[in-house]
This record gives sequence, C-alpha cells and structure tokens, in this order.
Amino acid sequence: MRYSYLLLILFLSILYKESFSQAPDSITLSATIYDESPIRNPDFEIGNYYNGVVEGIVQPDLGADGTPVYCCGDNSVTVNGKIVVHNQTTFNSWFHSDPGVNIPIPFNLVLTKIGPDTYAYQSSSFFPIDGQGFDNSTLYPNEPKYLNHNFHFCMKIHYSFTYHGGEYFTFTGDDDVWVFFNEVLQIDIGGIHTAATKTVYMDQLGLTVGQSYPWDFFYCERHTSQSNLNIITNLNFTCLSYDACDVCEGNNDTCCVVNECTQSVANPCLVQACGPDTDYQCRFDSVVCPNSDSKCLVSTCDPGFGCFQFPTNCNDNDPCTDDYCNDLVGCFYEQVEGCESCDDVDICQTTDPCHPLECNPRGFPQCISTPVNCTSNDPCIFSYCQNGNCIPEYICTPTPTVTPTVTPTVTPTVTPTVTPTVTPTVTPTVTPTVTPTPTVTPTVSPTLSPTMPPTHSPHPIVTPPDLASDCLVCRDLGCEKAGKACKYIENETIRKFGCNGEGCCKYTPTCY
Ligand SMILES: *[C@@H]1O[C@H](CO)[C@@H](O)[C@H](O)[C@H]1NC(C)=O
Ligand SMILES: *[C@@H]1O[C@H](CO)[C@@H](O)[C@H](O)[C@H]1NC(C)=O
Ligand SMILES: *[C@@H]1O[C@H](CO)[C@@H](O)[C@H](O)[C@H]1NC(C)=O
Ligand SMILES: *[C@@H]1O[C@H](CO)[C@@H](O)[C@H](O)[C@H]1NC(C)=O
Ligand SMILES: *[C@@H]1O[C@H](CO)[C@@H](O)[C@H](O)[C@H]1NC(C)=O
Ligand SMILES: *[C@@H]1O[C@H](CO)[C@@H](O)[C@H](O)[C@H]1NC(C)=O
Repeated sequence: MRYSYLLLILFLSILYKESFSQAPDSITLSATIYDESPIRNPDFEIGNYYNGVVEGIVQPDLGADGTPVYCCGDNSVTVNGKIVVHNQTTFNSWFHSDPGVNIPIPFNLVLTKIGPDTYAYQSSSFFPIDGQGFDNSTLYPNEPKYLNHNFHFCMKIHYSFTYHGGEYFTFTGDDDVWVFFNEVLQIDIGGIHTAATKTVYMDQLGLTVGQSYPWDFFYCERHTSQSNLNIITNLNFTCLSYDACDVCEGNNDTCCVVNECTQSVANPCLVQACGPDTDYQCRFDSVVCPNSDSKCLVSTCDPGFGCFQFPTNCNDNDPCTDDYCNDLVGCFYEQVEGCESCDDVDICQTTDPCHPLECNPRGFPQCISTPVNCTSNDPCIFSYCQNGNCIPEYICTPTPTVTPTVTPTVTPTVTPTVTPTVTPTVTPTVTPTVTPTPTVTPTVSPTLSPTMPPTHSPHPIVTPPDLASDCLVCRDLGCEKAGKACKYIENETIRKFGCNGEGCCKYTPTCY
C-alpha cells in the first residue's frame, strides 16, 4: 500500500519534471492593439494632465463583454481639477473597435524563458505599432506625429491559466494597466504615470488547484514620452479558443480594417466592409439607398453617381384595371366596370418593354400603352427607360467622374402596331379617366410627362393650362434670381383623387 503510494508520487514527480523540461523557450500571447489618436480621442495626449497612478478608473469586476467597465458613466475622472479620463464614451474606444476613432491591429507579445518556469517580457521602449495604423503617413497624412513613435494605443490580451499553486504575475510599466484574474481586478495602476509596479500572488486569490481561470490584461500608452512594459510570471497560459485571425479569445476585430483594404473603388454604390461572412476579409457591400418616403418611388443606386429614385412601375398588364399609385399604400388597381378581357396575344404584343402594350377593353384604340415612367425626383438626374429598366443620366454640372455613356434611345417601333386596321373616323369612346398615354407617342422621350419640361433644358417654362388662375406660378418665385430654373410639379393627390373644395392647385412651381 505505502509502497504503491510512493511509486505513484515518484511517477507524478517525474511527469511534473518532464513537463517543465519540455517547457518552451518562449510563450506567445496574441494581443489586440487599438491604435488611438489624440485628434480622435481626447483621452490621449491630454494637455494639462495629472501625472500619477489613479486607482478606481475601472470597476473591480470585469464587464460582461470581457473589457473593463468605466467607473463613472458620463462623468470625468479628475484629480486636482485635472482630467484623467473624459467619460465612458471616450473610454469605450480604448478597448473596443471604433471605426474612424481607433484601428485594431493584431500583435504577438512574446515572453521569453528566463528560468525553469519563468517567462518575461521586458521593454523600456514599447512601441509595437510604429508606422502602422494612424502612423502610416500614406494612409493618414494629416495625423500629428510624436517623437518618431506611435505613442498612442491600447492593448488587450485574453488568456486562461491553470492554477497549480505558487504562481505569480508581476507588472511594471506605464501608462494605465488593469489586470483581471478570474474576472476580478488585481492590478489597478490606471492613469498617466511613470513606470509603476505590482505583483499578484495566485495563492492569495482563493483559487482551486488544477482549475483553469480567465486572465485579462489591459494596457494603454496615452502620453509621450515613455513607454515601459515589463512582465515576469510563471503563469501557465492557455488559450481556450482563437478567433478567425488567431487572436486568443478575440472578437475578429483585427482581421480586416475598413478603409485600409488595399483595393479601393470609385463607385458610390459600394462601401468597404468586413465581417463574418467573408472570414473578416475586405469586401465591398452594396450601398443601401435610403428608402423613399413615398411608396410610389423606388430607390436605386447607379455607379455613375449614387442613389436616386424613380417612379414605381405599377403596370399590372391587366387591361381590365386602371393602375394607380398612392404615396402611402403604393400601387393600387381599380377594376374597369364591365370590362371584358380582350387579351389577344397576336394583336397587342409588347415588343418594347419600355412601352408595354395591353389591349384596350374599351375598343379603340385597339392597343394601349403605358410607357414605363422613369422620371427621377432628382432634378439633376434625367432617367430614361431602356429594355424596361430606368437608366439614369446626370445632367447637372460638374459632371461626376463616371457618366453613363448610353444615350436615350427612344424607340418609335411601338407606334406601328396600332392603327392600320382601325378606321380613323371612329371617335374614341374612351372615358377621360383612362387616358393612359396613347401608343402614338411623340418622338420625344416619353418618360417625361408633358407638364414637366425636360430638366435643365432651355425650353421656356409653360404654365400648365389647367392651373387655376389664383395659383402660384413660376414667375412668382423668381428662381432665376437664385441662379435656378423653375418647373411645375403635379400634385399627386389631386391628380388621383381630384379636387375637393377651393384653392385647388394641380401644380406647384418649384425652383431647382
Ligand atoms: C464625453 O467627453 C467628450 C470629450 O470631452 C465630449 O465631447 C462628449 O460630449 C462627452 N460625452 C458625454 C456623454 O458626456
Ligand atoms: C502604409 O499603407 C500603405 C498603403 O496601404 C502600405 O502599402 C504600407 O505597407 C503601409 N506601411 C506600413 C508601415 O504598414
Ligand atoms: C499548463 O497547463 C496545461 C493544461 O492544464 C498542462 O497540460 C501543462 O502541463 C501545464 N504546463 C505547466 C508548465 O505547468
Ligand atoms: C469570428 O469569425 C469566425 C469565422 O468567421 C466566427 O466563426 C466567429 O463566430 C467570429 N467570432 C466572433 C466573436 O464574432
Ligand atoms: C412620372 O412620375 C412622376 C413622379 O416621379 C410624376 O410626377 C409624373 O406625373 C409621372 N408621369 C406620368 C406620365 O405618369
Ligand atoms: C396637393 O393638394 C392637396 C389638396 O389641395 C394639398 O393639401 C397638398 O399640400 C398639395 N401638395 C403639394 C405638394 O402641393
């Protein structure tokens, strides 16, 4: 019995020794550095700063997201009236990715073996990201420079360690340092200060031998002119999981830095992005154009000049409905009373998708066409229909770099399909409410409604004949005095639902 015990102890001690003799020459701790900048976060290079260790800047328990929680909400930490940290907003970008404010950069902190079970990192000139991040003058020519080093950054490291008994961790350095063991703050040397030191003995933390505990390290270099980072420890670091870019317990935020992607596009319809679906590599996403307030307008993006809107196509190709659009509900249809579908594919065949043909249930003309309406709401965009799609063209100066080279090709091919068989003497019995533009279209772009002169054309502004005499007209606005042109915009509500009451103006003059 006793003998077998001895054997076991002997065996275990050999195993223990064995594991030590196999201990590597170095330990690499994968870290996330957030490059910071005084012109982007006032916590860095504070002018009239307090020089000294300040405890209590962060709460004693690690935050739920694995980063320190700022002590004081929207209030500043001050000592003797001097600011140490501004508030939780400025503090947030110390250890969280914040595009435009900081730049996450991966970094390997390599501890070297200085004893059988002891590892150290020792630097009195800790500038791990010189030339990188905001310090890259090619990418950020306007960033201020400080003493030939990239002085302003924060670093976080997440690992776990197994407690065997007898471990310690010593830190010496500046500026702010917070180290959490088992998610509890044990090293609290916050503030801008010269090198300060603190040792934590694991035996004093009430840990259980053989168990694994989280270890979370936070460091900031906030002020010229020193940067010291010294670590001595015999902690047995292990990483429970790596993120997509090999940072231990990272959140992928070093994988790809938006706006540092090497390719760049002069395409307003694409934005740089990076995210989980591409393993955090650079990619380009389509711009999401803001939705229109009206359901009668569709937002779209054109590589030539970005987002614009054109009318929703409400044509349901059903001759027995009148097709309408309402800003709130979108397309709606009214059944034509007593309509008998006269669908005959042979007669009213659509050859040009910009001028879809429907047969006319009211008889004459035999076919009716409702041209696709491409009128853009942006006066600088002249948009026309081609193969059933609205093609925009930028007509204001200065013209942006890429203009679509396509010119409007108004196809007169539609017209012949109508008339030959119909006797021209028969007067149309069409009720006035229908009047979708007859197929015999003028050779001018049919996409512009007759009441709206082509935008930016020098044509005289014609006051719509059906505008009541007491309504505002272009003349009243004097747009030309502001260097602008004037156009009439038809009142959609009145057009669809008619006038009720007086003061009914079917058109509103507008400068543009
Ligand atoms: C936090 O501090 C910054 C810098 O002084 C300031 O611009 C910001 O308004 C503050 N935020 C809040 C919520 O107080
Ligand atoms: C700075 O950025 C340019 C452009 O992305 C890159 O080619 C260069 O390698 C960067 N310099 C450093 C030191 O990272
Ligand atoms: C560190 O911990 C791991 C996992 O618990 C163990 O396999 C290894 O032997 C330990 N190394 C040392 C030097 O204690
Ligand atoms: C990091 O990216 C990997 C691979 O895309 C994904 O599986 C993982 O959930 C991501 N981690 C976080 C914290 O987003
Ligand atoms: C085309 O749509 C515009 C709204 O963008 C509208 O003002 C115009 O009246 C429409 N034209 C026709 C012929 O329906
Ligand atoms: C359209 O006419 C209605 C009813 O007269 C009026 O309330 C509305 O303000 C007009 N809309 C515009 C854009 O002029």
